[in-house]
Amino acid sequence: MSSTASALLGRVMDIVPDGVRRRLDTFADTLEVFIQIRDPRVLAAMGPSAVRGLVLQRGKQGAPSRMGAHHAAHFDWTYPSDHPAMRDLYERAKAGQWNGSDLPWATEVDLERPDVGILPDDFLAFDVLEGYGVRLDARERRRMLHDAAAWTLSQFLHGEQGALYAAAQVTEAVQFFDGKLYGATQVVDEGRHVEVFHRYLDTKLQKLYQVNDNLFTILDALMTDGRWDMKFLGMQIMVEGLALGAFGTIHRMTKEPLLKALLRNVIQDEARHVHYGVLALREHFRTALSERERQEREAWAFETALLMRNRFLAFELYEESYAHRLTRTQWKDFVVRSKGLSTFRDVMFRRMVPNLREIGLLSDRVRPHYEAVGLGQYFEGAAADRLTAQMILDDLDPGARAD
Ligand SMILES: [Fe+2]
Ligand SMILES: [Fe+2]
Repeated sequence: MSSTASALLGRVMDIVPDGVRRRLDTFADTLEVFIQIRDPRVLAAMGPSAVRGLVLQRGKQGAPSRMGAHHAAHFDWTYPSDHPAMRDLYERAKAGQWNGSDLPWATEVDLERPDVGILPDDFLAFDVLEGYGVRLDARERRRMLHDAAAWTLSQFLHGEQGALYAAAQVTEAVQFFDGKLYGATQVVDEGRHVEVFHRYLDTKLQKLYQVNDNLFTILDALMTDGRWDMKFLGMQIMVEGLALGAFGTIHRMTKEPLLKALLRNVIQDEARHVHYGVLALREHFRTALSERERQEREAWAFETALLMRNRFLAFELYEESYAHRLTRTQWKDFVVRSKGLSTFRDVMFRRMVPNLREIGLLSDRVRPHYEAVGLGQYFEGAAADRLTAQMILDDLDPGARAD
């Protein structure tokens, strides 16, 4: 938003009552998303989803959402063996299946015990909160960490539901036959992820937050875009990249053994999913797209990366417990300065940006945009086809390409 407009909005905010201020805040936030998107083709692809997600808040109406899918199913009656690397992933996926019921579900998750805390105390910037006059005692801090964990895991669960349907759609639409067989295993994987995250939230945390409006917007855009490679780019590279970053961060930080085991297994699957995304899109973008089409995807990926970076600010948590004590701007500042989120952002982009490079969406044309928002440092990392699940679990980066 222009500085005059935001200064004016700031003055209005000071004089209106709380309830009105919150509605105006939300409106300003939404407007900011539309203004951030500079490429008209991206706006055309994303706009209707943003209206459904951010303005109408379709994910928060307490009713099921219907999203029209318009992709074409691709049949091949010759059953070619057409992609050895995908066939190899398919074999690995079959061998790597696990049963969600076998996780140690008997583990007691006790939010009063910091030695097995789901998130460490320094995950949230409590000192920033104190600066805004919100002083929490030890018990209240543990409660907030517990809610933050439930919010984060709820968004994982909602993302997994999207991944399940996207994997099913892409399995129909992709042209590689070996990719279809592989895709079938991903559908099972995503179903299992929905199962385990839901069970954890339902039986251990006993709390489920609504889908974040920005996540809804991205999922809606992927579901309703008829171009399979856009679904694929959005889901396998961007959303899965975000998930890998978040899962890896929490896996390393948590002291709760059940969640650690759950995330460890999920990360093994997700590493395959992102690897598949890189294989399929690298070839497709190189051989089947015009330069104009490639550029559109490049712009879309950059705008989506920005949305992801700037927008997952846990406002659902704010609305639930802190709206009467803080302004949205103060809340945003608190979240952005929390260590958990900054670590997670770092890992997410370290994983995502090299994959964008690998599939050909990091040309010299777009690199300056990434550099301008501080993401240039991730250009040379290792892409998913060179990372094992173990490297992701250990947060290693062989990276650093030799050249
Ligand atoms: Fe998943
Ligand atoms: Fe996945």
